[in-house]
Amino acid sequence: MAEKELHHRPEKIPSWKSDFPIEEEQATHVGRREFAKFLGLLSGTLALGNGVIVIKALAFPAKPLEGEHFVCNADEVAVGKMFQFEIEGSKIIPYILIHLEENEWRAFEQKCTHLTCAVRYREDLGKIECPCHHGFFSADTGEVLQGPPPRPLPRLEVVVRDGKVYVREEQQEQTV
Ligand code: FES
Repeated sequence: MAEKELHHRPEKIPSWKSDFPIEEEQATHVGRREFAKFLGLLSGTLALGNGVIVIKALAFPAKPLEGEHFVCNADEVAVGKMFQFEIEGSKIIPYILIHLEENEWRAFEQKCTHLTCAVRYREDLGKIECPCHHGFFSADTGEVLQGPPPRPLPRLEVVVRDGKVYVREEQQEQTV
């Protein structure tokens, strides 16, 4: 009899359970809901971050380059070769210098105008290639030849003086 009574004695509820009366199933459910909320907040934050980048790009467009910038010695880049360099300003911008032919140099921004992948000069094709989506640009002018890039590559003027290569902002032609 005593054993039977023992069997039916109500389980003693720990005090913490009566203070926080949440069933295990409910607790899991709350956890999922909180997690979904967290994901929502995270994606909202990321979207906000992207928005800030776009707004900054529109509100603070890249400033024109001031003055000349030394790139390298002319004999460091053989005809047909490319040289990668950077110019530090309000941000670091990567460029490529191409020694197209004897006394013919070109310099372009290295960021593809599609989704900013790094472009490179393909000596075998005589073109600039973006490997991400098979975009091609003219190594002579930077114009888009093929693929999704929407705009030509921004270009710098190259000046070779005393065996040294410099770049500067392209001089705009005067229109009368
Ligand atoms: S990022 Fe260059 S073609 Fe898409």
